[in-house]
Amino acid sequence: MKVLVATEKPFAKEAVDGIRKIVEEGGHELALLEKYTDKAELLAAVADVHALIIRSDKVTADVIAAAKNLKIVVRAGAGYDNVDLAAASERGIVVMNTPGQNSNAVAELALAMMIYMSRNCFTPGKGQELQGKTLGLMAYGHIGKLVGQKAQALGMKVIVYARHKDAATLAADGCEKVETVAELFKRSNYLSLHIPATADTKGSINYELISSMPKGAILVNTARKEVICEEGLEKAFTEREDLKYITDIAAVNQAAWNEKFGNRVFATPKKQGAETGEANVNAGLAAARQIVGYLNNGDTTFQVNK
Ligand code: 3PG
Repeated sequence: MKVLVATEKPFAKEAVDGIRKIVEEGGHELALLEKYTDKAELLAAVADVHALIIRSDKVTADVIAAAKNLKIVVRAGAGYDNVDLAAASERGIVVMNTPGQNSNAVAELALAMMIYMSRNCFTPGKGQELQGKTLGLMAYGHIGKLVGQKAQALGMKVIVYARHKDAATLAADGCEKVETVAELFKRSNYLSLHIPATADTKGSINYELISSMPKGAILVNTARKEVICEEGLEKAFTEREDLKYITDIAAVNQAAWNEKFGNRVFATPKKQGAETGEANVNAGLAAARQIVGYLNNGDTTFQVNK
């Protein structure tokens, strides 16, 4: 069967080589569509494929409709908000992600972002240190947990809001559980977001939460831009000149914010979180294994549209 890697932001070469090996050893054929600039290229490329490996590439209903033979889509990464799950499920197409595989890369970036903002985007002037400060983690999945570990190594106190983790489990990791999102924001000198973009979370990081943060607080977003209420952030930042925001996913209003807030805001030019060779290899090879496992043995571990 034909497996397509469709990546507008390509994997490292070593990851593509590894994917090819796994796919071919599994008895399948690999096709590549990298750095495409037009959706028409994706629509044409999926026409005859049975399996699809993607990153943040948008698999919308029209892409699924164009892929007449499609059986499985694997998002090499964590967040699958770029896949139309309803359209896939309607056709009986299995959708998976590769949880945990690129987490370390994202966690390292979150820490780097905290330091970058603490040192005024590396421009002259007094910065501040992470040691002794409180880091709030909004959710505690693979990435949140790693950020917590690394932050503790730097001498930070880590507090966590995570509905499905009990206090004892978090305490064993050296973290304190907080019961409400309001408390998390109120106590965090640094706050790192690790929630997916869902109907519940979109726009949930709002004015009330942001403006309740301690003096000099830094909000770090390696999750999704959609979780931020942009109007609320702008209002809070206009009222509070001490707050800072750094994100791996530029806001819709980013250009205006850069102009208005200067060094208090920063967005990476293109999402960098999973942009390491290691993360590409981990996530890409996991995706290839999951596809071969499904096509050859019907293994649906990691299916997200059950
Ligand atoms: C993820 O959800 O895994 C990250 O956002 C990585 O996205 P990317 O593969 O587009 O870099």
